Amino acid sequence: MRILSIETSCDETAIAVVSDHNNQMTVEKQFISSQISTHAVFGGVVPEVAAREHIKTIFPMLKSLEIPHDGAEIDAIAVTQGPGLVPSLRIGVELAKCLAWLWKKPLVPVNHLEGHVYSVWLNDTPEFPVLALLVSGGHTELILMKDHGVYELVGMTRDDAAGEAFDKVAKLLGLSYPGGPAIAKAAKEGNADAIFFPRPMLESLDFDFSFSGLKTAVANYLRNNSTAVTPDVAAGFQAAVIETLVTKTLRACEQFQPRSVALVGGVSANTCLRETLTTAMKKQDPKIAVHLAPFELTGDNAVMIGIAGLFRAKQGVFVDPLLFEADPNLRIV
Ligand code: KG4
Ligand code: ZN
Repeated sequence: MRILSIETSCDETAIAVVSDHNNQMTVEKQFISSQISTHAVFGGVVPEVAAREHIKTIFPMLKSLEIPHDGAEIDAIAVTQGPGLVPSLRIGVELAKCLAWLWKKPLVPVNHLEGHVYSVWLNDTPEFPVLALLVSGGHTELILMKDHGVYELVGMTRDDAAGEAFDKVAKLLGLSYPGGPAIAKAAKEGNADAIFFPRPMLESLDFDFSFSGLKTAVANYLRNNSTAVTPDVAAGFQAAVIETLVTKTLRACEQFQPRSVALVGGVSANTCLRETLTTAMKKQDPKIAVHLAPFELTGDNAVMIGIAGLFRAKQGVFVDPLLFEADPNLRIV
């Protein structure tokens, strides 16, 4: 099966053609355009600006795919339905609806979070149940995936997402947007033991997270220490986030006994997080396979939406293009 996939949930415009043969994925074509430089001057994503950029970019991208005008080579169309920014989501959803209707192709709705989880299926076939640690700019969730399309939300952030905390702390430190890569780079030069920041909710018996207090702890530290060393603050903050994420994931493994763990989402590009989780899992339970999102699929992209869409299409999950709507608050369960 060959699927055309579209992702416009936030500030990346992305489109891809993905096919599968015996569960082996092939990315036939893909285009991605980041709006980071456009939004950097505002210090965050401006929804209306994002939507205008998607419109400017998506049609030339579609043209570059060189699909026949009747869509003859395409078996189905997958699109991110949500969660995300309404003006952004709508651009991708409305385009997908038009194409599905004109070409008379099945339309497959994909949850953006589900897309992130499926990024590990590009090169691997994880065994179920899969415990996914999804860490991005908008979400921090532990999701137990029992089978294709069957999810249980095990834990989530009660306030800021991990990526959001990276972005906010980077701002406090005067580092560039997006903050994750900037903090990771600064942390390499710093001493993670120089400053101890709190590990939020580590004592709680659930699998939830909270990062807004950690951000406040960094703000307070900077207010009280005028000679603060940026790399040490970055390293101390990053260590606190990583210890919290990894400890809760290990505990969830004890309770839910998954056969695989998947680390996905924008923050999964953090090499320190990848290494810490891999090492800790090997130590705790070497039988559980750890699958890391391929680096090129950690951020938002259309390939992961295509992979999720292919599995959804095989299950016959289709929607009527004339009735379908974007849903900014779409949940995975
Ligand atoms: O998944 P994503 O591209 O977009 C959302 O769906 O939110 O995630 C973006 C987030 C941003 O907050 C960014 O700062 C963070 O991922 N990020 C990182 C790294 N690279 C990106 N955080 C920590 N370390 C990184 N290397
Ligand atoms: Zn995302």
